[in-house]
Amino acid sequence: MVLTHRGGSDEADRVVAAIQDAGGDALALRLDLAEVESFPAFVTALRQQIDMRWNATTIDVLVNNAGIGLFGRLEDATVADFDTLIGTNLRGTFFLIQALVPLIGQGGRIINVSTSLTRHVSPATSLYAASKTAVEALTRSLAVELGPRGIRINSIAPGPTATDFNGGAMRDDPELRSTLAAHTALGRVGQPDEIADAITALASVGMRWVTAERIEVSGGSLL
Ligand SMILES: NC(=O)c1ccc[n+]([C@@H]2O[C@H](COP(=O)([O-])OP(=O)(O)OC[C@H]3O[C@@H](n4cnc5c(N)ncnc54)[C@H](OP(=O)(O)O)[C@@H]3O)[C@@H](O)[C@H]2O)c1
Repeated sequence: MVLTHRGGSDEADRVVAAIQDAGGDALALRLDLAEVESFPAFVTALRQQIDMRWNATTIDVLVNNAGIGLFGRLEDATVADFDTLIGTNLRGTFFLIQALVPLIGQGGRIINVSTSLTRHVSPATSLYAASKTAVEALTRSLAVELGPRGIRINSIAPGPTATDFNGGAMRDDPELRSTLAAHTALGRVGQPDEIADAITALASVGMRWVTAERIEVSGGSLL
């Protein structure tokens, strides 16, 4: 497994060590989704690393998980906010797929992480929801383009999940957590491993006939 980080590699090194402790094998490479011009060098480094490490020339699964949320009302949004959000969530995702598709062989899978906010509406989420709705749209369109190469592409749409996202609010703010929990059928916010498990399931052979789909993993949020 290759994971990416965009800054200090300490945390990435800890994840690599945890994967290795669990019996897997992983390496970490630096990648900033906002720096599209760096993608060719990233692809070169990736090719070298997977060759050296695993004698591999292709990758099986690409998970586009990195993303940011910038939340606010219409009148408070700036052009810089717009460019940062769209530049990361949509432009970065699109051009990373473009850069990596040549390495993805027959039977490959691409999973884009979206949000439940593309289905239901919360105040002050317009730009973020738009960026992820665009990711879902490109997922469907690319399914048609990539299908003939035997690549399937889907999106996973998490509901509120207890991560560092939005300053860790869904994990650390008890009031927000209980409000969001009351909106879900299962009565709580999600945990990161519940999203990871859904991504793993979607990449599995049992889902080999599934492409162009959006699968929500939200515990039944705002039904
Ligand atoms: N948590 C939720 O409630 C929730 C709900 C729906 C959807 N999602 C989506 O789930 C995905 C994962 O988010 P999360 O909840 O795990 O939040 P997170 O803990 O904030 O993780 C987001 C990750 O994206 C990385 N990232 C941000 N901008 C980047 C860039 N320009 N280049 C490379 N990496 C970048 C961050 O890197 P740094 O560590 O360097 O900042 C971080 O590792 C996101 O796409 C998010 O939109 C989350």
